[in-house]
Amino acid sequence: MPKIQITAKGIRAALKKYVPYQSLTEYVWNGFDAQASIIKIDFTANELGNIESISISDNGYGIPHDKLQDKFEPLFESKKALENKLKKNLSAIHGKNGIGRLTFFTFARNAAWKTVYHQNDTNLTYEIYANAENINLYTGVNAVPRQTEEETGTTVTFSGIHGLTSHQLEEKFQEYMLKEFAWFLALNRHRNFAIIINGTAIDFQSIIADSEKFELEHEETKTVFFLYYVRWDQRLNNEPSRYYYINSEHKERWKEPTAIKNKGEQFYHSFFIESAYFDAFSFQSADSDQQEALIAGTRSDAQFKFLRKKLANILRIKRRPFLKGFAEQLLLDYEQKNILPTDAKDNLKQTIKILYEMQPKIFTSLNLEQKKILVGLLGILLESNKTENVAGLLGGIIELTPDEQSELTQLFL
Ligand SMILES: Nc1ncnc2c1ncn2[C@@H]1O[C@H](COP(=O)(O)OP(=O)(O)O)[C@@H](O)[C@H]1O
Ligand SMILES: [Mg+2]
Repeated sequence: MPKIQITAKGIRAALKKYVPYQSLTEYVWNGFDAQASIIKIDFTANELGNIESISISDNGYGIPHDKLQDKFEPLFESKKALENKLKKNLSAIHGKNGIGRLTFFTFARNAAWKTVYHQNDTNLTYEIYANAENINLYTGVNAVPRQTEEETGTTVTFSGIHGLTSHQLEEKFQEYMLKEFAWFLALNRHRNFAIIINGTAIDFQSIIADSEKFELEHEETKTVFFLYYVRWDQRLNNEPSRYYYINSEHKERWKEPTAIKNKGEQFYHSFFIESAYFDAFSFQSADSDQQEALIAGTRSDAQFKFLRKKLANILRIKRRPFLKGFAEQLLLDYEQKNILPTDAKDNLKQTIKILYEMQPKIFTSLNLEQKKILVGLLGILLESNKTENVAGLLGGIIELTPDEQSELTQLFL
């Protein structure tokens, strides 16, 4: 029986942070990592409400028998991760530590994989077994794969379940799965991806607090972008707020953090941008070879800059309501630090508040002296009869909406 290179104790130590729900997500990710589109999670309970078995099945490419040993060799940095090191800006590959499949010990005694893969014009199947007591052992390497009519994919079944009741799985599990996968399902919403728990697909829309679709055209180059902005009603498990760039086949090409530096406000968002322009686009212009840069779009293209400016402005507007409390806080802080004179007029305070909500960067990027100067100048401006210039000045820095423009005009009347 092949033996994993680290001891069972060593593996357990490395995995002790894992809780059962998290372990379950590892098996779902393994399915998506293997290019599955549909993951089914099924569990059965006895009359007492204890879970008897859980199975997770995917329609991915399976685990070819001749590669099993290689794939199940638990390096702390898995082969999958090493091969994809350059692709860390892609969601398609989640696995990175090479131990996800071992985490079942948090809730089960046994795990059995039945996998179907395609090789030499035929589909083959075999099983792999592992148990929690000897987590560094597994069977399957000596199995003889049999021909099958079944489609490719893998089903892992857990038995000897502990620490999970049907009540828990019915109440909280779905919510946990949404926090883990909602963004991924939204990202792949045109590719018929689904996670089905006991026959019911989870719906990423159910944790959306706000969403909006936009169609954007860069006129000079006739480049069209389809935008889908989503704000989640809660913090997602591990996925920060990001831009996702998607090509015309609806596949993710790249992801990166949005321009927003979270200041503690609960503005959890994802921004999906689809365009044929990303079919050939060099996201890492610096590393890409010259040849590629000649045929592909790059970040210095006019249409890309135009897009990023629009995205940042949409986010700025969407974020405003979340900054209200912070604007109040800013004023208190300015009073304490004597940036704001104690006898400051209400319209000066109001101006600072609104400017902060419109673009917090105006203030956060300044040092103490600069803040004093800015506030002083704003005070003088408000005393003068030149206030209508403020909107114009600000309009040069950020793209104000008509509503915001009239808001500023009102302020300075
Ligand atoms: N459902 C699956 N379908 C195809 N391959 C799988 C599946 N589950 C596990 N594997 C293979 O086993 C390897 C080890 O899985 P895992 O322990 O989760 O580590 P990681 O995902 O970090 O590589 C994976 O890299 C993959 O090659
Ligand atoms: Mg994994």
